[in-house]
Amino acid sequence: MKEIKVLIPEEEINQRLDELAKQIMEDYKEKDIMFLCILKRSIFFTVELAKRIKNNVLFEFIEVSSYENNLRTDNLKLSKDVTQSIEGRDVIIIEDIIDSGKTISYLKDNLKNKNPRTIKVCSLLDKPSRRIVPIEADYVGFTIENKFVVGYGLDDNQNYRNLNYVGYIEM
Ligand code: IMP
Ligand code: MG
Repeated sequence: MKEIKVLIPEEEINQRLDELAKQIMEDYKEKDIMFLCILKRSIFFTVELAKRIKNNVLFEFIEVSSYENNLRTDNLKLSKDVTQSIEGRDVIIIEDIIDSGKTISYLKDNLKNKNPRTIKVCSLLDKPSRRIVPIEADYVGFTIENKFVVGYGLDDNQNYRNLNYVGYIEM
């Protein structure tokens, strides 16, 4: 196990999730919302956020991968697609972190072709200093500096996703 330092403790995440849920409920009023959870990294954030929302929330799970087995390339593909129609739905893509912005920009373009009524992005973390594609999330939990973070769904080579806090590994 590598040395992991705490960046955002669980209590702070919980507090921020309450605020995000409130903001989403205000924005969507009584409407149904469809959460698009990106496997595997967004499952923790998806569940914890959804539990705080009083609207009816529907779930879809998608997976993004790249032809070169490295998420930091331009060759992204949807390796697992939605299984129900998102047409006419108010969709929120739930992401772990926006880094270069390539994944979110790819996903938004791809999903727009399926004609949702609206499509927004909610990301637990944002690392704006690393952005290559100019894109912003509609909802952001925490803006962080350029650190390699793990926990709360985020992984280091598939490890440490189940940490109940966001930690970082010194590189
Ligand atoms: P993108 O560069 O915005 O396309 O981000 C792609 C994906 O890289 C994110 O959704 C994360 O799963 C992963 N990623 C980016 N930064 C980190 C990090 O600091 N720790 C763990 N995964 C990361
Ligand atoms: Mg990852």
